[in-house]
Amino acid sequence: MTTVVFGARGNVGRHVAAGLRAAGERVRVTSRDPSTAGFPPNIEVVAADLEHPATLPAALEGAEKVFLYAKAAGAGGFVDAARSAGVRHVVLLSSASVVHPDAERNPIAREHLAVERPIEDSGIGWTFVRPGMFATNTRWWWTASIRSENVVRVPYPEAQTSPIHEKDMAAVAVAALTRPGHAGRAYTVYGPQSLTLREQVRHIGDAVGREITFEVISPEEARVELGRTMPPIGVETILRAWAAGDGRPAPTSTVVEEITGRPAHTFAQWAADHADDFR
Ligand SMILES: NC(=O)c1ccc[n+]([C@@H]2O[C@H](COP(=O)([O-])OP(=O)(O)OC[C@H]3O[C@@H](n4cnc5c(N)ncnc54)[C@H](OP(=O)(O)O)[C@@H]3O)[C@@H](O)[C@H]2O)c1
Repeated sequence: MTTVVFGARGNVGRHVAAGLRAAGERVRVTSRDPSTAGFPPNIEVVAADLEHPATLPAALEGAEKVFLYAKAAGAGGFVDAARSAGVRHVVLLSSASVVHPDAERNPIAREHLAVERPIEDSGIGWTFVRPGMFATNTRWWWTASIRSENVVRVPYPEAQTSPIHEKDMAAVAVAALTRPGHAGRAYTVYGPQSLTLREQVRHIGDAVGREITFEVISPEEARVELGRTMPPIGVETILRAWAAGDGRPAPTSTVVEEITGRPAHTFAQWAADHADDFR
């Protein structure tokens, strides 16, 4: 019984592959660039690109289960190839944006719905893991300025988010791939604590062992600052999320503990795991 893990060098995918191997599963990993660099030793690596369906039959041959990233452009081709290969269960890394009331107007939600829907209609078993804000996003926003100037600049210091450790999303996915009872279920996964951006920066400072300077800037200045490391759609999404969360608790969830039997990681634990990224 082979499980194919797409994107096994990704933040979440790498922990899915590791978790499945630790559970004794036979794992095949894919990459658009299947050089083995960055993969664990003794693992089967195949070339596959979700946006090029012709690459999928070979990657899925003989597979029973799949961990998938959401690529709207390739959703139909993936479903056809998975059905032909006899895949019985797909765990999709989706997004909490799909459960928001404005999902049909939100480009990020639409991208994920465009993959969820054909999988739901496919007749293949499925589980959707729908996370909110990844803790890894803080690397995207703040690594460069912390490393070069020991500073973080944000427009809404009291904006709250509930960041999720990538290990927790992966643990939910691994449970869905290895234990019964998760077919046809969609899990909205938020982090365990709502924290202001100021508090998040303090945790990163504690992890790296120094106080990081915190500066408040205008949203227009933040648009320029974030635009140095993020695509425009990401910049607008994050500015909207921060503005909406300014002074308001973000939703949290207990789903990680309910599904895995252990508490979700705190943001302080995430920062300790990633301290070197900010040094
Ligand atoms: N950031 C957030 O706050 C957030 C919130 C909700 C949901 N999400 C979802 O989570 C995803 C990001 O997860 P992550 O941080 O683990 O991603 P990541 O570290 O960027 O890794 C993405 C992986 O996907 C693979 N990939 C990319 N394009 C592919 C394609 N066309 N065909 C096959 N594989 C492809 C890549 O593998 P190769 O390069 O080796 O091919 C890569 O390892 C987002 O794209 C979104 O769907 C993110």
